[in-house]
Amino acid sequence: MQSPHNIWQTILMFTLLCFQPTTTNITKVTTKSLVEEPVSKHKSFDAPKICVGTLGCLQGKYMSGFEGENFEAYLGIPYALPPVGELRFANPKEFRGWNGILDAAKPKPNCLQKNYILPVPVVDGVEDCLYLNVYSPIIESQRSLPVMVYIHGGGWFSGTASPLFHGPEYLMDTNEVILVTIAYRLGPFGFLSTNDANMPGNLGLKDQNLALLWIKRNIVEFGGDPEKITLFGQSAGAVSAHLHVLSKQSEGLFRSIIAMSGTANVPFSITENPLQQTRTFAKFCNISHSDELSTSELVQELRHMNATDLLNAGDGLKYWHIDHMTNFRPIVETHGTPDAFLTDHPVRLLSEGKYKAVPWMTGIVLGEGAVRVLSILANETLRQDFNSNFRELLQKLLDFPKFFDHGQRAAKTQQIIDEYFDGQAELNNITAHGFLECITDRAFHQPFYNVVNNYIRTVDAKRYPIYLYQFNYKGPYSFAKFYTGGVSIGDFGVVHCDDLIYTFRAPALYPDFQKGSNDAKFAALFVGNLVHFAKYGKPRNADALRPCTEDTFGNESDSICDYQEFINAEPNELQIRTNNKFNVRRAKLWNSILDIESSCTII
Ligand SMILES: *[C@@H]1O[C@H](CO)[C@@H](O)[C@H](O)[C@H]1NC(C)=O
Ligand SMILES: *[C@@H]1O[C@H](CO)[C@@H](O)[C@H](O)[C@H]1NC(C)=O
Ligand SMILES: *[C@@H]1O[C@H](CO)[C@@H](O)[C@H](O)[C@H]1NC(C)=O
Ligand SMILES: *[C@@H]1O[C@H](CO)[C@@H](O)[C@H](O)[C@H]1NC(C)=O
Ligand SMILES: *[C@@H]1O[C@H](CO)[C@@H](O)[C@H](O)[C@H]1NC(C)=O
Repeated sequence: MQSPHNIWQTILMFTLLCFQPTTTNITKVTTKSLVEEPVSKHKSFDAPKICVGTLGCLQGKYMSGFEGENFEAYLGIPYALPPVGELRFANPKEFRGWNGILDAAKPKPNCLQKNYILPVPVVDGVEDCLYLNVYSPIIESQRSLPVMVYIHGGGWFSGTASPLFHGPEYLMDTNEVILVTIAYRLGPFGFLSTNDANMPGNLGLKDQNLALLWIKRNIVEFGGDPEKITLFGQSAGAVSAHLHVLSKQSEGLFRSIIAMSGTANVPFSITENPLQQTRTFAKFCNISHSDELSTSELVQELRHMNATDLLNAGDGLKYWHIDHMTNFRPIVETHGTPDAFLTDHPVRLLSEGKYKAVPWMTGIVLGEGAVRVLSILANETLRQDFNSNFRELLQKLLDFPKFFDHGQRAAKTQQIIDEYFDGQAELNNITAHGFLECITDRAFHQPFYNVVNNYIRTVDAKRYPIYLYQFNYKGPYSFAKFYTGGVSIGDFGVVHCDDLIYTFRAPALYPDFQKGSNDAKFAALFVGNLVHFAKYGKPRNADALRPCTEDTFGNESDSICDYQEFINAEPNELQIRTNNKFNVRRAKLWNSILDIESSCTII
């Protein structure tokens, strides 16, 4: 692996060189031959062309798969009007078409963002960013292929749909699916809200919804089957995918989902007081009288702010140097406009089963919490500062329900210190791993337990099955390096995002696997399982798993349901192990600490 220094250089280089906004979004090409010949995706040798209904025609490019076979790529297709000027903070508007032939051979720049996952947050991107990428095998027949739509993660404040980070090569090597990756507004641009019609909120999710509508209508032109769309996402992208299941607006736009490391009930999924947050935010933008302005005046002021200044004003929302990591989140839209995306709290919707269920697959990695924990452990200033105010900062990080009083908070924090820190109120080399487990359980594993428990009790799980997996494959690369900024602090195992290494090629982040290596084989195995689910609505070895239902959930003392476990195995014996161990005791401990009796309490 490259040295950390080089990694940063590489990321920065790609950021600077490859994501430069192109001067024109739409290239008008006057090619007579294109007009005269019927446009077909199969014939051309130089660049693939395709026409999309009444929208217009596209000229993409060929890319080669990891194993070599070529496929078609159409990059940077606009699905919404650029959300700039008066459209900043507005619901996305459909893009109705273009003249001439759209140049779809280059990826578009990222959505404007400040990436707080990196030890030194980097600002990058543009506001005009509502584009999607379509990758399609070169198929000779009239086959219509299942479609996989990927929603990237990044805490709703960062991330990218670019092939340099979410490369389609492994998925395209299967020749069995069409892949679409979508960009959506991030940070203040996608998630600020006054919770009324002036700035209705959930804009980033509404962008995703509009992209899904585009795909449903148009994917047939690319050889895709609009009845076989699987939504998949990781981290905030997984939470987003799950929220689409809960939204009436997205009903019917897909038939199944895969939620990798995130579900709609995670403790960071909702901003509780969006208007109050927006007023506070406006204060950090130096907008005068931000507490007294009408929401319409407030939005006008924010709409006319310099975009970079807006992004930097987000720092003001943090209660500590780096926390909360996620401040721009979905909201419950209580304003009653007909195009609201989410009208009730996800935890309530889930616990009451008030939504149209679809078959789904969801999984976790062991070290989810690393995305927050490692950057504190690796930075001596942060670690010492955390230790100097340990109990209070830990309490804040744990996001206790608002109704806990001072005494309850102190007692519950002590319980956590006893359970995870062996009684030591300090971050040091001995308590570091307990700290990781603690944040992993709070933010991911306990919500995972509750969501499954809830699902099998409220939904007909025989008709709309749920499949679980655990990702425990450790290879040569790890996202741990990005969280620590390359500082070596020991081995923390498989961490948040490491499953992406085997899902997407990411030339901007790490070198390719050796062809034929165990890692390359594992990527093919992992991707094959995702594709199998997209095709058949169940994972590869579904027959070896007992269905996850009320009868099987928790039937053994330390289990939830059977799940697939992806592990390192003997060379050339890559396996999916079926296992059913899960730390139920800790999930129950958290439910007791958080006073969640039936996992229905909204916290
Ligand atoms: C607001 O004012 C402060 C203090 O003058 C300054 O440091 C900060 O950069 C300003 N922020 C914006 C977004 O203009
Ligand atoms: C916005 O502010 C940044 C510095 O914060 C500056 O570099 C940039 O030119 C400004 N953009 C506009 C359009 O004023
Ligand atoms: C450590 O954290 C502090 C506070 O967030 C930050 O200012 C500093 O740049 C960080 N150091 C490194 C090496 O990342
Ligand atoms: C903790 O571990 C790191 C790396 O493993 C090492 O550099 C450091 O000296 C250790 N600190 C203590 C207090 O043992
Ligand atoms: C649950 O466990 C009991 C024994 O512990 C066993 O008899 C029963 O078949 C199990 N039920 C299912 C659905 O696996």
